[in-house]
Amino acid sequence: MKTALTITNLSHQYANAAGTRAVLDHVDLSVQPGQMIGVFGDSGAGKTTLLLNCGTMLKPTEGDVEIQGLPVYDVTAGERAQIRAHKIGYLFQTLQLIPYLTLQENLRLPSGSSVGAADTWLDRVGLGDWAQHKPDALSHGQRQRGALARALVHQPELVIADEPTGNLDRKNGELVFRVLRDFADSGGAVLVASHDDSIEAYADRCFDLQDGSLTEKSRQP
Ligand SMILES: Nc1ncnc2c1ncn2[C@@H]1O[C@H](COP(=O)(O)OP(=O)(O)OP(=O)(O)O)[C@@H](O)[C@H]1O
Ligand SMILES: [Mg+2]
Repeated sequence: MKTALTITNLSHQYANAAGTRAVLDHVDLSVQPGQMIGVFGDSGAGKTTLLLNCGTMLKPTEGDVEIQGLPVYDVTAGERAQIRAHKIGYLFQTLQLIPYLTLQENLRLPSGSSVGAADTWLDRVGLGDWAQHKPDALSHGQRQRGALARALVHQPELVIADEPTGNLDRKNGELVFRVLRDFADSGGAVLVASHDDSIEAYADRCFDLQDGSLTEKSRQP
């Protein structure tokens, strides 16, 4: 089976008027099908930057990102859009649900998924009664679970979730990690940025992102 995600020698710098700031410094990571990987790090450590690099939305300053062996920043923009649409499910830290559409329509829009698939995934994240509501009518935590369902509804090879439990109570936080674990157990690959220690019970490997480098966290016995 092909490695779902491989990043090699990846560095990212942001430039502003004051100069350049290195956020990621020669990072390597791979995620296999069936694996769930957690990335911790202080606010500002670069988690979102790393996930956007992996999600084909932000070209790293240096290094390679491969999805199932395809170097995603070396292909045309059209090919990259196809990879993004079909192989990746992305839960943005800022959610990015469309306010004019119902939750069901939000799930169906990017992938053309069926009504049945959308409703099944809304049920799985505890939002079965909210399919016809627009995001404004939901709490932030409900919107977050809706965005998770949108990332999963088209059964991508790789799900990238940026702080998917940031606004959830413990019970719903565990539900989100359980849904992501089940997705990995069914053969998907999962990369999650989180501040939430409870992910350690669900992830196969966890890393700390600090000073631009990833260090694997030792597991509690
Ligand atoms: N578009 C940008 N232009 C310039 N600097 C940026 C940009 N995006 C992020 N940064 C800077 O890069 C650093 C890493 O930001 P990033 O959002 O990746 O961190 P994070 O670990 O996701 O933080 P949080 O836990 O708060 O979400 C921060 O210092 C941030 O200010
Ligand atoms: Mg972030």
